Order: sequence, then C-alpha cells, then structure tokens
Amino acid sequence: MIFPEDFVWGAATASYQIEGAVKEDGRGQSIWDTFSHTPGNVADGDTGDVACDHYHRFRDDIGLMRELRLGAYRFSVAWPRIQSDGEGSVNPRGLAFYDKLVDELLAAEISPYVTLYHWDLPQALEDRGGWTNRDTAYRFADYAEAVHAKLGDRVSDWATLNEPWVAAFLGYGNGVHAPGRRRPADAMRSAHHLLLGHGLAARRLREAGARSIMLVVNSSPVLTPAQVNDPSAVPSEADAASAHRIHTLLTRQFLDPAVYGTYPEEVLDAAARNGGTDHIQDGDLELINAPIDLVGVNYYNPCVVESGPGLPADAAWPGSENVRFATADAPTTAMGWPIVPDGLSRLLVRLSQDYPQVGLMVTENGAAFDDVVQDGRVHDDERVAYLDGHLREVHRAIEAGADLRGYLVWSLLDNFEWAEGYRRRFGIVHVDYATQERVPKDSALWYRDVIGRNGL
Ligand code: FCB
Repeated sequence: MIFPEDFVWGAATASYQIEGAVKEDGRGQSIWDTFSHTPGNVADGDTGDVACDHYHRFRDDIGLMRELRLGAYRFSVAWPRIQSDGEGSVNPRGLAFYDKLVDELLAAEISPYVTLYHWDLPQALEDRGGWTNRDTAYRFADYAEAVHAKLGDRVSDWATLNEPWVAAFLGYGNGVHAPGRRRPADAMRSAHHLLLGHGLAARRLREAGARSIMLVVNSSPVLTPAQVNDPSAVPSEADAASAHRIHTLLTRQFLDPAVYGTYPEEVLDAAARNGGTDHIQDGDLELINAPIDLVGVNYYNPCVVESGPGLPADAAWPGSENVRFATADAPTTAMGWPIVPDGLSRLLVRLSQDYPQVGLMVTENGAAFDDVVQDGRVHDDERVAYLDGHLREVHRAIEAGADLRGYLVWSLLDNFEWAEGYRRRFGIVHVDYATQERVPKDSALWYRDVIGRNGL
C-alpha cells in the first residue's frame, strides 16, 4: 500500500501541551494557566507549568523527529509569548523561541506547519470577554500578522485555528475546557468570532505572501448506531435527521462559512434560539470566506447519534434538542473513544465531495493507551494497530479520489491532555515527567518504517 510520492508524513503537538516555561521570557498568562490552576478543572490537579519542558529541550526533540524520519512537524505558537496581553507590542523574546525552532527544523529537513491558535488565549483578552468579544477576532489577526512577519520567510504552511468547535463549545458551552464558561449563547457567539478571526487572519497571511493556509477542524462522520459497523445500514427518517443536524453543528457550522461564505439554516436557527444572531454582522460571511488552500482534519472517532424525542439540547451542542448521543459498538481507547478506522475514510470522502475546492490533510489522528515502559521499551501494540488501521483508510480515501496531502500523527510526545492532564498518553514517544526522559514507543519505530517506505 504505497502513498503518493509527495505525501507529507509528520507529527503534531500544541504549545500549552508540551512547552512548559510558562513564566519565561515575558510570556503572559493564558486561559489554560488560569483554568488548570483552578482546583477541580483538570484531573489530578495537573497544569502545563512544566509539561514536556519542550521550551528548553526542543533541540533534542527535533533530533528525535529526525530519527523518526518525520517530513513535517505541526506545532502551535503560544499567543501570550508573542503578546503577553494579547495586543500591542510584540515580545521579541517570545518570537525568538519559534524563530530558533523553525531554523532547527529546517536544518533537520523537517517542514514546519505553524498553527496560530491552539486554545491558549491570553488571559487579558478573556478578561475583556474572550471569544465572545468581537474585538478578539481583530486582535487575533494582528497577532497572526506579527508571527508571519517573523517566520514567513521560512514557513510556508500556516493554520489559523485548531478546532474552533472545541474552543467555542467546550470552552464556553459545557465548560470542560478553558475558560470554563457554561452558556450556550456565549458558545454560539464565540464560534462566530473564532470564524471571523480565522477569515481576518487568513487574509493578512495571504497578503503577506503565505503559500498555504488552512483551517483545522475536529470532524467526524456522524453515524447512527447501526451504521458504525454497517455503512450500508439505512437509518430511520428520525435518526437520519438527528445525524444530519449534528453533522451540521459539528462540521458545516465551520466549513460552510469558511469555504462557501454561508451559514446553514440550522446554525442560524440554533443561534436565534440561544442569545440571538445580532453578533453576525453584515459582511462577516464575506470576511470569513477568505480563500484557503487546505482543510486540516483531526479525526479520532465517529460521532454516534439517534433520535431522542423530548430530550433537551446537550450543553456542548446548542441546537441539539431531540437528539440522543449514543455509544458505538466498538472497542475503545483509554479515553473511552470508540475505535472505528473506516470512519476516517467515510469522513474524508464526504468532505472531499462537499468541499471539492480545498485539499485535505489529516492534521491529527492517534490514540491514548495505558503505556508502560519495560526494559527501556514500550510495546504499544494497540497504538500500532490503531495507526495502521487508520492509515489504511487514508489510503482508501485517496484511492476513492480524495485530495489528501498528508498525515500527521497525534502526538509526537505524551503531553498535557487538557482536562485529562498527564494520565492520558497520546505520544508515539513516551515521556517520563519526573526525569523528562523520552523513549520512542514501538509505534514510533513502526511509523519511522512506514515513512521510510512511504506506505504500509
Ligand atoms: C484534539 C486536540 C489535541 C489533542 C487531541 C487528543 O482535540 O486538538 O490538542 O488534545 O484532541
């Protein structure tokens, strides 16, 4: 099973999950510092204060990437390192870190993929309303331009936002993520302002000469329980309607405005019933509809729903009345997430049909398991099976005609898994947090060989 010649192989991480050094070189506070330091928010009271200490160990980490033959490394820039309060003057010491990181990657012949926002909003902006405040979108565009001004001569691949659905609906809807607000109206507003920030930033990047710009979404095929193991199962009309609505709230809410400059009716309706639509101003959709080259797809598992007459909307899903979120009949990872590899090909084929004008890249895919180090090795057979199964489906999607440019595993390193803290290990490289020792797991060695032969 051989992949296209120029297929991009790599791994992904995010700033707050790996960097540590939260008070160094003028970094300001982010909403994740505040959130993780508030008791009860994160498992075991974990914080990103030290994380993988990547801020100090990035050279060694790039050495590891080179050994694993990665062709690309997707990392995110911590906004509060660049502007401690999220606006105004740019902090040269913060920029210097990413400058060195990029140089070191290029020296190792690894292409940097820069994500500008992976959830660590400057706390000072949150204090003024965060993403519920329209002004945050404009601050984001300024920040994006400042990062591009420093790195744009060497970085050609840019992502604006990581998973705006999660930022809006877990951050402002059910409060499981920072900033921990729980108001459906705030979540709907935030989703729109995140999109506006994406559009404004994409335009600035383009004007500044960025070669490739993408929006990264968490997307999943939305299936009824019977469809999980039988793609040809025909759902009842009511179940199909539920699946259609959740697909719209999860994926079309973001990609229709970005790619077509339109909001689906169901999204406008959900906004109307949750705080109203006044925050959507004339001309916004044109701004959001800035040309992009790629959609980045983060896939872990399908979303399984059926009709649930009389049920209220879930806190993370304004507009999801009368829908029941169901469990899949499938084995699960340590996160409890169902393992359904062919969900990935179903998703990629669908996206390539619905949004044919943009290319696709799998910007995250991977799994957490309870790994143990034994005699200096980690025999993570389950992760190898997970990755192998999903890569076969990526290949299948390419054969079916999807314009798929690459695959980035989540994650290079075990890291701070948000509300789950350090107990969930997604890395292909094991991290001993007490010593910061890195041990490539069997999956890393397997992945190195996959990259080496460009296939399975
Ligand atoms: C995604 C996030 C990423 C990581 C994985 C497991 O939603 O983008 O940071 O936590 O989930």
